Amino acid sequence: MSASPPIVEMRGVVKRFGDLVALDGADLVVQEREIHALIGENGAGKSTLMNVLYGLYRPDAGTIRLRGQEVRLRSPRDAIASGIGMIHQHFMLIPPLTVAENVVLGDERSGPMLGERRLAARVRELEDRFHISVDPETKVEDLPLGLQQRVEILKVLYRGSELLIFDEPTAVLTPQEVDELFVIVRQLRDEGKTVIFITHKLREVFAVTDRITVLRDGRNAGNLLTKATNASEIARLMVGRDLKPPAARTPVQSSGTALEIRGLQAKSDRGAEALKGIDLTVNAGEILGIAGVSGNGQSELAECILGLHEPTAGTILIGGADIAHDDPKRTRERGVAYVPEDRRAEGLVLAFTVADNFILGKQDHAPFSHRGVLDSDVISANGDRLAKEFDVRPPNARAIVGNLSGGNQQKVVLGRELSEQPKLIVVNQPTRGLDIGSTEYVWERLLEQRARGCAVLLVSSELDEIRALSDRIAVMFEGRLVATLPAAEATEERLGLLMAGHTEGAPA
Ligand SMILES: Nc1ncnc2c1ncn2[C@@H]1O[C@H](COP(=O)(O)OP(=O)(O)OP(=O)(O)O)[C@@H](O)[C@H]1O
Ligand SMILES: [Mg+2]
Repeated sequence: MSASPPIVEMRGVVKRFGDLVALDGADLVVQEREIHALIGENGAGKSTLMNVLYGLYRPDAGTIRLRGQEVRLRSPRDAIASGIGMIHQHFMLIPPLTVAENVVLGDERSGPMLGERRLAARVRELEDRFHISVDPETKVEDLPLGLQQRVEILKVLYRGSELLIFDEPTAVLTPQEVDELFVIVRQLRDEGKTVIFITHKLREVFAVTDRITVLRDGRNAGNLLTKATNASEIARLMVGRDLKPPAARTPVQSSGTALEIRGLQAKSDRGAEALKGIDLTVNAGEILGIAGVSGNGQSELAECILGLHEPTAGTILIGGADIAHDDPKRTRERGVAYVPEDRRAEGLVLAFTVADNFILGKQDHAPFSHRGVLDSDVISANGDRLAKEFDVRPPNARAIVGNLSGGNQQKVVLGRELSEQPKLIVVNQPTRGLDIGSTEYVWERLLEQRARGCAVLLVSSELDEIRALSDRIAVMFEGRLVATLPAAEATEERLGLLMAGHTEGAPA
């Protein structure tokens, strides 16, 4: 094979943020027409390296060559002009506009001159070529997340990108949407595009990528051919040690009901019936897993328990008291901890430090304040301790949370919520965005809480997580719990069918 130069060759890239060295001489070499996995622990520098390639960050040292030509990318505009496109995780679409309008928006070549019809036709052409299906004339606000992501992909393709960067694209997708995304990504490659794919899920690395770059602490820890490696080799390169087998679980030491929900109904924020009569109990010392494709009412359920969403009917009993209409503060005072699904919007104040985020909601009480005066020594000592315990990187409690990597932000929420002695923990997608080692750590902490008699309501769309942790598993579909099974009887297949709406006994 004649050696054509790689489409991307980044060498010796250094990027500092103040004293913090995010990239410490990192290399990335990507060949044309390959799907290249970029993996590594939380804070390893993956997003930073991609932000350098996309022209968002200026590197402090290092070179970038595109097809052999050295380039200087001063802004995303430069990157786009060089054929680089980024599919953002927080979609940057304009909800009231149609798919087609969003796709061409901001592209000077088309502008408002193009009529609605022509515009839709152009977008349809792109869709056919790349096997991406989404109606160009639908408004973006009416699309589920999986389809919004397709609009982002079309937008990037419309600008003529040859290289597409996906930063944790599957974190917000349902298992079915993930499979559909893989089909699209393979089609992109078959049509001559190159893809960089960041993920924490090794299953995805093996399902869709050709080659792998592993980053650790801002440096290269490995460069592998996907076909020629395996999960434990990758894990060792990422984490620098072997992963432990999951902790053996002690049988439930139940001592009564911690949470009892009867006939709970609620509407979604958009007015639809989100909960259509939920009955469940969680015992002390037990983990009840709620499996289901997200968007079937799980978030409303969690928010109703926490007092963040107003039920329209039903009761929520904790220790005999109905808390269905209590405010979040009172509910928390009853010993309920909460890890929300959307950490950036609900779990954190991004402009605050790590130490301050660790005491959110606890700032009015001892030991963090006395007679209304905050005790900054206690707050900072607490911050240092939790940052260390939950492996927040960098372990600096004075860092601003908004500057942390996605996975490290999640660790701050977990550290705050799991560090007390709650009676009930409600967790929604607790390990989303976490690397393998941190996921393992969080699972252990949840099992530890269970062992000390805490009740845990675990909402997750990850079947592996549900099955690894739960004593009983309930499946949620369209606002109802369609089945509750002991964990031992919940095979992946059975859960998958229930999640897709096939009730047991009915023909599949
Ligand atoms: N704008 C910034 N200011 C200060 N520090 C930053 C900034 N952006 C990133 N960092 C730091 O740089 C390091 C690398 O972060 P980066 O976001 O690249 O990690 P990552 O590999 O994408 O991790 P994750 O898997 O958690 O998303 C982290 O320690 C992070 O806190
Ligand atoms: Mg990242």
